[in-house]
Amino acid sequence: MVHFSDKLGRLQILATQMIGISDLFKTEPNRLKNFVHREGPLRADFSKQAISENTLEALINLAKDCQLEDWRERFFAGEKINTSEDRAVLHPVLRGVGGTKSDRKDVKDMRARMREFADKFRRGRTYKAIVHIGIGGSDLGPRLVADAMAASQKSKFDLRFAENVDGASINDALEGLEPKSTLVIVVSKSFTTQETRMNAETARAWLAKDLGDKAGKNFIAVTANRDGAEEFGIKSDQIFDFWDWVGGRYSVWSAVGLSLQLAFGPDAFDEFLDGAAAMDKHFKTQPFETNLPVLMALTGVWNRNVLGYTSLAVIPYSRRLRKLSAFLQQLEMESNGKSAGRDGKMTDLTCPVIWGDEGTNGQHAFFQWLHQGTPGAPVDFVAVLKDHEKQPDHHAALLANCFAQSEALMIGKPEYKVREELTAAGMPERQIDEIAPQKTFPGNRPSTTITLDELSPSALGHLIAVYEHKVFVQGVIWGVNSFDQWGVELGKVLAKSILAEFDGAEGSHDPSTEALIGMVK
Ligand code: F6P
Repeated sequence: MVHFSDKLGRLQILATQMIGISDLFKTEPNRLKNFVHREGPLRADFSKQAISENTLEALINLAKDCQLEDWRERFFAGEKINTSEDRAVLHPVLRGVGGTKSDRKDVKDMRARMREFADKFRRGRTYKAIVHIGIGGSDLGPRLVADAMAASQKSKFDLRFAENVDGASINDALEGLEPKSTLVIVVSKSFTTQETRMNAETARAWLAKDLGDKAGKNFIAVTANRDGAEEFGIKSDQIFDFWDWVGGRYSVWSAVGLSLQLAFGPDAFDEFLDGAAAMDKHFKTQPFETNLPVLMALTGVWNRNVLGYTSLAVIPYSRRLRKLSAFLQQLEMESNGKSAGRDGKMTDLTCPVIWGDEGTNGQHAFFQWLHQGTPGAPVDFVAVLKDHEKQPDHHAALLANCFAQSEALMIGKPEYKVREELTAAGMPERQIDEIAPQKTFPGNRPSTTITLDELSPSALGHLIAVYEHKVFVQGVIWGVNSFDQWGVELGKVLAKSILAEFDGAEGSHDPSTEALIGMVK
């Protein structure tokens, strides 16, 4: 097998011939046409990336050399491409390519059961609050979607989340709620996760204190381990299933999204699925030249592997999408943050660090570094065109800031201009020598701007699915299995033994860890 790094040669030569991003707009009259593409409500503008038309062609050839077409077929065909766990990867089946009507009976049955439960729950008068307990993939997707759905409609219920094992998490989630009008939903694919089991125990005790034997009625589980949930004491008819072919970080489309269905209604949830299904179809059928996830992945590969950027900032200019960077941290870094390839050979320069915060807040914090720090980072700007808040002035200012930042990162401000300005202001030459470099912006910093026409459930489905497929494409190019997560295991095992040592069990550690344990003992 030819390794990815062997294929980088042509790209590295192209990098030495690169001109500035701003100049590419002058030399490539069709740049906007070639670098801006749309699927439904989602438009992505890659024209501010440091990629020429020639480079793009070379990147597309790289994807072809890595047999992306073949991998894409195997993925959609349900082959067991998660080889280290011997599992298929079928989250698109949950939305059914081209619509919510999946052909699979188990998926259809689950959908019907969720809808029936949600309709009854929403019509009834028993419940006022939902507490969703889960962590990682069983938390980040639902939390992001809950925030974002609130742009188009209000939740009918007080929807709260508890994820961290820190008691503050479950305490805050239960604070002020009344047990008899609260439904607790415990979401865990494995049903073995320490944080989730502890939070579930605490919530169950809280319910039982008030409701006694009847507490079980207010307690639901969503899991791929039905036996585990039953052994935990949850009744069979209170369990919603999903399957081992749904990765945790790809699971919001399954019954993991039950709390969203309850809060926002099954129709909104279906619209969310349909949006993702439209992106699945796009990914499956569009040529690479106009294929959004492929282009996102390739620009990422160029920035990481050729230009050497070690991180990617994701900045949603939308309060309602403020959890996007946290969601993508798991999606991208748990999927592709690996050094061993699928074939067991070591690889390097995979997934960059994903980070970010909502705009405009970030502008008053880390944007200084983005503009003038070294080496800086490529940015994904995400903006919503429609004002959902009925605050048109605020919305105009929000969008103006977003567009200004990507422009500023690209055009920068050359030193000669700064010098001209300082001279015109009457600053003495010696002082200009000191100050001018500090006021200079290097520019030529790459970004992609993704806009959603509105923050509808469908647009949200498009947005999450485009990133999911981007991750898949990058995994194929880097030769890693994007669907396992062995790197999280070691810490879990050590935490278990340290917890037992707090209660007197024997253990052996390095002197630093021994001292830390000693303080708790
Ligand atoms: O620790 C990592 C992880 O296994 C994630 O992959 C997963 O999303 C999260 O823990 C929660 O797992 P579960 O849904 O099985 O509780």
